[in-house]
Amino acid sequence: MFITILAAVAWVVLAGCDSGPSAAAEKSHMSDAELRLTPEQAAGRRVYNLHCLVCHEAYSSSERNGPTLAGFYKKKFMVSGLPVNDERVRDIIVMGKSKMPPFGGQLSGDEVAALIAYMKTL
Ligand code: HEC
Repeated sequence: MFITILAAVAWVVLAGCDSGPSAAAEKSHMSDAELRLTPEQAAGRRVYNLHCLVCHEAYSSSERNGPTLAGFYKKKFMVSGLPVNDERVRDIIVMGKSKMPPFGGQLSGDEVAALIAYMKTL
């Protein structure tokens, strides 16, 4: 009986938790419309998936080759201690940072702006 109650409680707790790894996996498979992205954010998502996702998770908290960017703009400071704002983020994208390669030569100003607009939805 006790085990049954325990299992039921665990099930309710797990079912009610929508920020676990499965929710993150689900989000990564959602369409732009389902994520309610504007055309600019959707364009930024394509740039992100092409250039950034190999090293930075967008919806899960796990690390790849770089820190996760899930919830990035909800934080005041980056992992490196820099403040999170558009100027610093643009600098990192354009110039790179330690093991992160620079993207200034590959991305236009519009693409970087779209990328930042998308990162704000993470
Ligand atoms: C080859 C792997 C790689 C790629 C590709 C890459 N990054 Fe990074 N990125 C890193 C690493 C490693 C760091 C940590 C740098 C450091 O030591 O501060 C980082 C740091 C960052 C940071 C700061 C995070 C923090 O909390 O300190 C941002 C923002 C960022 N990257 C955005 C991007 C974006 C946007 C793209 C795509 C245009 C991208 N990165 C592509 C490896 C990568």
